Amino acid sequence: MKASDIASGHGVVGEINGRPVAVYNAGDRLVVLENICTHMGCQTDWNDSGDSWDCPCHGSRYHPDGSVMLGPAAQPLPRLQYRLENGEIALD
Ligand code: FES
Repeated sequence: MKASDIASGHGVVGEINGRPVAVYNAGDRLVVLENICTHMGCQTDWNDSGDSWDCPCHGSRYHPDGSVMLGPAAQPLPRLQYRLENGEIALD
């Protein structure tokens, strides 16, 4: 996943090394999250109009930084450490 493919203020879901991730471009930095809903393990999608990660299974929503916006999830999406290798996002 290339960092330059994610426009500022937007999020993208995908996989890095087989791990589901949700990546938000906050302008001055990226927010890399494990894309496994903390309610029951579904994967979220980026909601451009709502500026949120939305889970299709039971309606949980998360802020771009992974914190919970709306339950039933009670815990945030875990933050992952990353580094950039030639513009590619790599997990530490
Ligand atoms: S698994 Fe995401 S809301 Fe239930």
